[in-house]
Amino acid sequence: MAFDIDMIRGVYAHLAQKVDNTRALLGRPLTLTEKILYAHLAGELPTNAFDRGKSYVDFKPDRVAMQDATAQMALLQFMQAGKATAAVPSTVHADHLIQAKTGAANDLTIAKDTNKEVYDFLSSVCNKYGIGFWKPGAGIIHQVVLENYAFPGGMMIGTDSHTVNAGGLGMIAIGVGGADAVDVMAGMPWELKFPKLIGVKLNGKLNGWTSPKDIILKVAGILTVKGGTGAVVEYFGEGATSISCTGKGTICNMGAEIGATTSTFGYDESMERYLRATNRADVADAANAVKQHLTADPEVYANPEKFFDQVIEIDLNKLEPHLNGPFSPDLATPISKVADEARKNGWPLKVDVGLIGSCTNSSYEDIARAASIAKQAVDKKLTVKGEFSITPGSELVRYTIDRDGFINIFDKIGGKVFANACGPCIGMWARMGAEKQEKNTIVHSFNRNFAKRADGNPNTFAFVASPEVVTALAIAGTLEFNPLTDSLVNADGQKVMLDAPAGDELPTKGFAVEDNGYQAPAADGSAVNVAVSPVSDRLQLLEPFQPWNGKNIAGAKLLIKAQGKCTTDHISMAGPWLKYRGHLDNISNNMLIGAVNAFNGETNKVKNQLDGQYGEVPAVQRAYKAAGVPSIVVGDHNYGEGSSREHAAMEPRHLGVKAVLVKSFARIHETNLKKQGMLALTFANEADYDKIMEDDTLNFLDLDQFAPGKALAIELVHTNGNKEVIMVNHTYNLQQIEWFKAGSALNLIKLQNH
Ligand code: F3S
Repeated sequence: MAFDIDMIRGVYAHLAQKVDNTRALLGRPLTLTEKILYAHLAGELPTNAFDRGKSYVDFKPDRVAMQDATAQMALLQFMQAGKATAAVPSTVHADHLIQAKTGAANDLTIAKDTNKEVYDFLSSVCNKYGIGFWKPGAGIIHQVVLENYAFPGGMMIGTDSHTVNAGGLGMIAIGVGGADAVDVMAGMPWELKFPKLIGVKLNGKLNGWTSPKDIILKVAGILTVKGGTGAVVEYFGEGATSISCTGKGTICNMGAEIGATTSTFGYDESMERYLRATNRADVADAANAVKQHLTADPEVYANPEKFFDQVIEIDLNKLEPHLNGPFSPDLATPISKVADEARKNGWPLKVDVGLIGSCTNSSYEDIARAASIAKQAVDKKLTVKGEFSITPGSELVRYTIDRDGFINIFDKIGGKVFANACGPCIGMWARMGAEKQEKNTIVHSFNRNFAKRADGNPNTFAFVASPEVVTALAIAGTLEFNPLTDSLVNADGQKVMLDAPAGDELPTKGFAVEDNGYQAPAADGSAVNVAVSPVSDRLQLLEPFQPWNGKNIAGAKLLIKAQGKCTTDHISMAGPWLKYRGHLDNISNNMLIGAVNAFNGETNKVKNQLDGQYGEVPAVQRAYKAAGVPSIVVGDHNYGEGSSREHAAMEPRHLGVKAVLVKSFARIHETNLKKQGMLALTFANEADYDKIMEDDTLNFLDLDQFAPGKALAIELVHTNGNKEVIMVNHTYNLQQIEWFKAGSALNLIKLQNH
């Protein structure tokens, strides 16, 4: 079976002991988040409690999940670790590369053809290393994880920001970069800053048109897109237990939109029902046996202000459905105020398209409730004004909703069913006419609504709402319609109202599926050949980086002195470059092309010290590499902030940059550089940044004495012949120095395996 009950039982076997020890250490009752985090420490329990928001802690997650766009480089790197199988249960999900255009069957056929080499690679590498592979069409990573792998009290990382969705089943599930996934699959600990804790108390009960989505839309309005940064959001209260498990998933999913590390709920009957309905009675039984450890201690929820850093209360009895947007998921408007706000702000009133589904909202319950609205449109003879589409989250859901007649209902209102994949949610939507860039409004039940996200048109005003509200607005075709209070005129000229949505939480006849699209790995993958064409421009097997030669780096040229903000996007741009994510040499052609050269204020224009000509950063660096000349990148404050994209560290390493010397680093990027065997250094005296000249040559003087806590000396040789020595700091510990010496962390793991 697709899940690993033995692993789960193993986690639960030690849970009571670990929770007791943690309670003794902290000397107080525990939140659920603390129970799960302290139960997943990579090392021993510390002697003092971790400092929330400050301590960096090594964890040992139970699972890894990867989507196909990010899995490519993660798996290429994992292959370098020399392991026979992944150290923890892991899966890959082919969901991001399927374009939504004409409908599920056709779109899927085209995607399989266009992405064949990527799918073949992912399939073969999974097969070889004991990793489960969910084929294209099987579903969206987070829905599939919720249906098969998430379990209460577990800890998981995933190479996608909405990995947090699994909090709906009581997990601590966190979105990470590929390098983190590689660490965990290679058996290394995974580091996280111990989070702060936000408690959200849900009073009352959802009713009428209001759904779980409205809770998170409301929370997003309160906390804004930054309010959850560095924190885990823990939901509790009578309102929490009354929400379905998949509804909890929706709430946790959009925790990513408030910047939260993750969100979670305590184990309850809704989770038990979902586990049993998805063929995991054994997980439910195992969870029931330890259920007091799968939620916070009672004193915590009785007196939350004492235990959380921040507490928010929401009264579900009074909560209105919300519409969030445009262009930001935290711009929250209650449905009763949408018409006024729309007129006031000049939002296009006409709703052109309603889109339901995605990893956020494609549970059986979501679809059933949306279908109940669509059915009313048919029964009450309403003409549907907007276009309408459905992207089911998994084949399990799609098959079941088809069996239960919902797809037939959507069909009657002109709905188009796209493949079980990300599609419009990630911009993989070939929307007709989008290139005209006309101002228009769409409403969807996805999670993100930044400009251009869905259809590439910067003038598309996208609003996020529950699937039932999206369906109602697509039927009405206008933002001026409030389904709770307004009527519509039907084909007979009569005024009719839509009744509040209704739908079962779980299918009464049970879930069904013919082929769920899962490929189990080979029992012994040693003979499996990993398929990568040597002439591919999208995939390239990695060569191990060269170990350090033990000598001081001498004669290094300055490649670029970057000025101001230099995020991972400036270092390794996204957009059209995403297709080269699995091909290090090709994607390296975007290295630092967004960084501003401090000497001319321009991007992608640096001096080649070999010939004195100005050229593009990757081209100049390739010239240095070809000539065997080392080089150095210099940067400003918070260098490498942004995403955890490992390409931003791998590209300079691949092209022969030896060191990155900056005023300060974003921590994740600094660690990524260390993992790739680069020197990540900071000016001991920030003002020395100004001493670096465009034609400088740099000599390391004491790298051969590289040691923890010891600053290094670099000699600057200016073109006028002047020389000066500057001191640079680093944060390498002994192990990280071994990474540097071995050429990369993965090289070291490989050495240790042999
Ligand atoms: Fe896919 Fe959109 Fe979810 S891109 S994983 S459906 S957030």
